[in-house]
Amino acid sequence: MKINDFYNYKKPGKKISMITAYDYTTASIVNDSDIDCALVGDSLAMTMHGASSTIWANSRIMALHTEAVRKAIKDKLLISDMPFLSFRKGFLKAMETVEKLMKAGADAVKLEGIDGHEDTLSHIIKSDIPVMGHLGLTPQSINKFGGYKIQGKDKTGADSILRQAKKLQELGCFSIVLECIPEELSKEITDTLKIPTIGIGAGPHTDGQVLVIQDMLGLYELPPSFAKKYIDGRKLIKEALNSFNKEVKNEAFPPKKKIADRKKYSNANY
Ligand code: KIV
Repeated sequence: MKINDFYNYKKPGKKISMITAYDYTTASIVNDSDIDCALVGDSLAMTMHGASSTIWANSRIMALHTEAVRKAIKDKLLISDMPFLSFRKGFLKAMETVEKLMKAGADAVKLEGIDGHEDTLSHIIKSDIPVMGHLGLTPQSINKFGGYKIQGKDKTGADSILRQAKKLQELGCFSIVLECIPEELSKEITDTLKIPTIGIGAGPHTDGQVLVIQDMLGLYELPPSFAKKYIDGRKLIKEALNSFNKEVKNEAFPPKKKIADRKKYSNANY
């Protein structure tokens, strides 16, 4: 999927699938899958580094993970998150972050919110960098929200999110992530905009869906309630680890065979 496909998907109502990826090995599996596009989300602060929120992420870390993921993601669109405050310190700081992410291999950047950084966002877009917006429960603002709470539940909140969505489209964003907002609101925004919306915890009416890969693989201990677990990764990995442990303890692994026989355990080439 390329950037122009976003518009091509919206018109006929073809849904877009996006998944986060943070490391080379996982990204290589994403690359082999049918998923449309990958996001190096700043959620990596929590899933990969154990931080308590995404506020921990910075542009160096985002670029490092983007570079690793890019090596595996060949033909899919790769979007990378602008971290906390990186677009609130003026054009220069913002453009330095954009440069790091794009040079690390991102095809586009995503940034949260709009109010107060319209000019910076517009400058990034006018510099020919595709930008994905992100509205609703924007995790970099949890301190303002007082925690991970659904946004846009009352009329004032809903009107504000709709206004911001229209503004993001007007400034030239190619898509918008809608996170944790009521499904009636995400439907209204999706029906109003020409650009596609990608939902997470925002109901079924958006033009696409995104999940954090650790949540859908059942790896993260504290997934949000809306995240569907497609496999119980923690259980599967723990079982494999315990099998290895058992075989080490009872001397079943490694086998007492010649080196040439090892190949039957894997497709290793050495
Ligand atoms: O950082 C992230 O993973 C995200 C998605 C949840 C959209 O922004």
